[in-house]
Amino acid sequence: TGLTALDYGFVNTASTQSEITYIDGNQGILRYRGYPIEQLAENSTYLEVAWLLIYGSLPSADELAEFDEKIRRHTLLHEDLKRFFSALPHTAHPMSVLSSAVSALSTYYEGTDPDDVELTMVRLLAKLPVIAAYAHKKSLGQAFLYPDNSLSFVDNFLRLNFGNMAEPYDIDPTLSKALDRLLILHEDHEQNASTSTVRLVGSTGANLYSSISAGIQALSGPLHGGANEAVLQMLAQIRDSGEGVGKFVERVKRKEDGVKLMGFGHRVYKNYDPRAKIVKQSADEVLAGLGVADPLLDIAKELEQFALEDEYFKERRLYPNVDFYTGVIYKAMGFPTRMFTVLFAIGRLPGWMAHWREMNLDPQTKIGRPQQLYVGEAERRYPGV
Ligand code: CMC
Repeated sequence: TGLTALDYGFVNTASTQSEITYIDGNQGILRYRGYPIEQLAENSTYLEVAWLLIYGSLPSADELAEFDEKIRRHTLLHEDLKRFFSALPHTAHPMSVLSSAVSALSTYYEGTDPDDVELTMVRLLAKLPVIAAYAHKKSLGQAFLYPDNSLSFVDNFLRLNFGNMAEPYDIDPTLSKALDRLLILHEDHEQNASTSTVRLVGSTGANLYSSISAGIQALSGPLHGGANEAVLQMLAQIRDSGEGVGKFVERVKRKEDGVKLMGFGHRVYKNYDPRAKIVKQSADEVLAGLGVADPLLDIAKELEQFALEDEYFKERRLYPNVDFYTGVIYKAMGFPTRMFTVLFAIGRLPGWMAHWREMNLDPQTKIGRPQQLYVGEAERRYPGV
């Protein structure tokens, strides 16, 4: 074919142009639509950033209020879709439940895609947290609550997860603020594996529900969003085995059984991940605010310190990424480990949708179709022919 460029894992190949997110991996800079992540995390809200990512500028107060109101109006799931959950085992991983239910959404709203993308985006923003909370409740064997649309996006989500039918749910502002901030940090990260998946699926003309469902599956892997769950398992294993941080790091360096330091390293960041910096600062604050002391946070800090001073990690420029400290915070909030990546998915939803929309508005967009270098057999004759 004359094709010579081979780029495993797209290390050096841009698949698109984009105006959404800027990353400088050497300096540890992340900006959404030009705004530094630190300023957004400090001052904005999840929904405001969602608008920013999708439409390119910060919303006016009226635009934001209207957006928020529309999302509140679409939180209810079809009653039949609620029954869909009973067909799944209570042991199902919530990421599989989430992806399946989002895929199922397209059976309810068939025909409105892709013509009514704006409404689909509102529906997804409204319903993904409800589906996520139902996946959580299902795993606990508890009743699903109806959304309470008088509550903010994050408060509604917290109540759906931690409230019950028998008593009113008290909103803890520390928890709401901390979760909102974590969601902002996850909202976009340019062409990561799940966003690239959403774009690739979308490039075929598939609808937004199907594209997002595929993105959720891509996010679930432990090298991507699933790392936040894997970090907590790693920390718990270090605590329970009593092997100590030093011995664990030695095993990582020997690549024993492929063991990695989960929550470390990044394809783009060769410096401290700016999101991880913010999460690390929040971890102490949030745990103190919630009145939780967790020895896993101490192990995480010790592990980080140990790795940052070690030649193996220095040489390879491996630093903590966003997933390193988030799990400790989610745990303190009361989420089970298997819900961690689901929280990442809710966070990432606006970015996925912004990219899907940008791709569809770009006249240069073509179906995504990578090439290959064939290295198999030359023509062979079938026996007896
Ligand atoms: N622990 C130990 N060694 C590592 C790690 C790690 N976490 N990450 C990379 N390395 C080593 C790797 O073995 C390789 O060593 P060598 O040169 O001796 O072969 C070198 O560093 C370069 O790594 P790579 O695998 O070529 O880098 P990549 O860009 O292909 O992979 C990564 C990036 C994020 C998949 C990888 O760093 C990793 O597996 N990290 C652990 C999983 C993780 O935390 N993922 C979350 C990523 S951030 C948020 C998200 O996307 O969800």
